[in-house]
Order: sequence, then C-alpha cells, then structure tokens
Amino acid sequence: MRVGVLTGGGDCPGLNAVIRGIVRKGVQEYGYDFTGFRDGWRGPLEGDTVQLDIPAVRGILPRGGTILGSSRTNPLKVEHGIRRIKENLAKTEVDALIAIGGEDTLGVAATLSDDHGIPCVGVPKTIDNDLSATDYTFGFDTAVNIATEAIDRLHTTAESHMRVLVVEVMGRHSGWIAIHSGLAGGANVILIPEQPFDLDQVCAWVTSRFKASYAPIVVVSEGAKPKDGDMVLKDGSLDDFGHVRLSGVGEWLAKEIEKRTGKEARTTVLGHIQRGGTPSAFDRWLATRFGLHAIDAVREGDFGKMVALRGTDIVRVPIAEATARLKTVDPKLYNEVSVFFG
Ligand code: F6P
Repeated sequence: MRVGVLTGGGDCPGLNAVIRGIVRKGVQEYGYDFTGFRDGWRGPLEGDTVQLDIPAVRGILPRGGTILGSSRTNPLKVEHGIRRIKENLAKTEVDALIAIGGEDTLGVAATLSDDHGIPCVGVPKTIDNDLSATDYTFGFDTAVNIATEAIDRLHTTAESHMRVLVVEVMGRHSGWIAIHSGLAGGANVILIPEQPFDLDQVCAWVTSRFKASYAPIVVVSEGAKPKDGDMVLKDGSLDDFGHVRLSGVGEWLAKEIEKRTGKEARTTVLGHIQRGGTPSAFDRWLATRFGLHAIDAVREGDFGKMVALRGTDIVRVPIAEATARLKTVDPKLYNEVSVFFG
C-alpha cells in the first residue's frame, strides 16, 4: 500500500506534526510506503512528488509551515484536472490520498472521493477554526496565543500614550481568533464578521474606557464590517477558490475612531505572524492525534471521511458534511463576552 499526503490552502502550525503522525504509524504499524505531493493539489495535478519516509519526518514536530509546501491550487478549475490527478496517482502507484486542509482543500477531496472514486481521507486544518464537524482545528490555538501575547503587549504602550490601539486579526468569515484572543487579552471591544458593528457604539465603548482612565484595545477580525458598509478588501483580487483577499479594516477603523472621538488611534495588523512559527503544545497534540487517526482510516478503507475532534475523542465524519457549512461564532457567545466591552 502506498499513501499520498498533501497539505493545501493557507499553511498553519501543526501541519508537520500531522505528517509525522501519519508516516510514523503508517510505516511502523502497517508497513505502508508514502509519497509526498508538493504544494497542495498542484502536486497530484502535475505529478510533483517528494520522498516521504521516517528520516524525512525526523525533527519536524516543532517546526511551523509544512515540509510538503502548500498552495491554493483548485484542480476542479483546471482543464482535465481530475483526469490528470488520476493519471498521476496511477503513475506514482499511490493507492490512497490523505488531504490536510481547510474547507477548500477538503471540498476537493470530498468531490474526488465521492464522485470520482479516488480514495481520500481528510484532516481538518485552519487557524480560523471555522470548519464544522470538529470542535477545534489545529493551528487555531497557536494563532490565539500569538494574538493574545500581542494584545498583552499593546495594553502597556496604549496606556503610556493614552491612545486607542486597534488590533486586526485573521478570520475571513468567522471571528474565532478575535473572540478567543480578545477575551484572553482583556480587549475592550471585539468585532467579528458574524456581527456587523455599529460605529457609534464602538466609539461609545472607546470613550467610556478613557473615562475610566484606561486606554482601549479594539480587536477586529479582518472580515468584520460595519452595519451600513462592506468588508474592507486588500486589492479586490481573488484566490483560486474565489475568496477575496482581506485586510485593511483595522486602519479604516482607527481613522474613523480618531475622527469621531478626537482620541489618537494606532493599528497593528498581525497578519501572517499568526500562521508562522512553532505550534503550541495543544496544536502538536491535536495534529499528531489527527495524523494517527487518519492513517487508521486508510487502513480500514474508510474513505470520504475526515477525522474530527469531539470533546476529547477523535471521530470520523463524511468530508462532504464537514465542508457543507462554516462554523461561525454563535450570537449567544458573542453576547456573553460583550460584558467586557467599554
Ligand atoms: O484561511 C486562513 C487564512 O489565514 C485566513 O484567515 C486569511 O484570510 C487567509 O488565510 C489569508 O490567505 P493568504 O495567506 O493566501 O493571503
């Protein structure tokens, strides 16, 4: 048995831990061989492979990024994409594929598995934590820790200058990073894509914080938008899966707050710092367990499934079900956290 492994979409801390878990158990327990495909779906599409064995996964557990490379290539948009993947899998003698990715990468895996008979198992990955069917994705915990540390640091400089500090975090359609790091870091305002915000209310919270002689920290997801406006786009360009590139809401918000409150405001955009570097202990733990369970699914021929965290158990769910809708922040949870606003 030869198993192909690929990592697609935006990278995140913990990808290497998954790869290591898959290969270590697959070789040691089941005697499998592995082929790494480079740069997400581009690898099987172009037959671009890399050697994947025990020596290749030595020392990678704490390393961020992915030894396989990643891309947002969408083979369903490429002419004869599915045929080319089938041909390359046959050429490389790969019997089954493990795709580690978010909604886009796994959406492709579901189509290949369910509609085209290519045996695929999925592993959920995204710092955004917005995949339904799993309690958490790996990478999220690391991103939240990075954002929380940044907020902790920004408190002291905000207070020295009595300024508003706006922190823009990632989260295209969901505010998980913002709400977790905002609560952990003691932010005074948290704005998320699920809850279009009222600028007057934001300014009222900012002003009330100054009245209490403290400087406000505003955490905003890149996908947050005002009630009467749209998301702020980077440049209007789209990726291969049709997603707009975001970032800019933080700068825009700081300017509006300055204009409306008369208080000085600055913006910090955390951007890809949230995706880089070494994974947290929790992400290494979760990613490794996902890897071990993914190779078990291959062993049992349980294809078209994704491994998922439910409580403390790893379960399997149909990939198609897991990618059908995004997991967003419940208004009740947002309301719970809003006791700290202002
Ligand atoms: O999907 C994860 C994510 O980090 C989003 O939070 C963000 O909008 C996007 O990827 C950024 O993508 P890229 O690295 O391609 O600019």
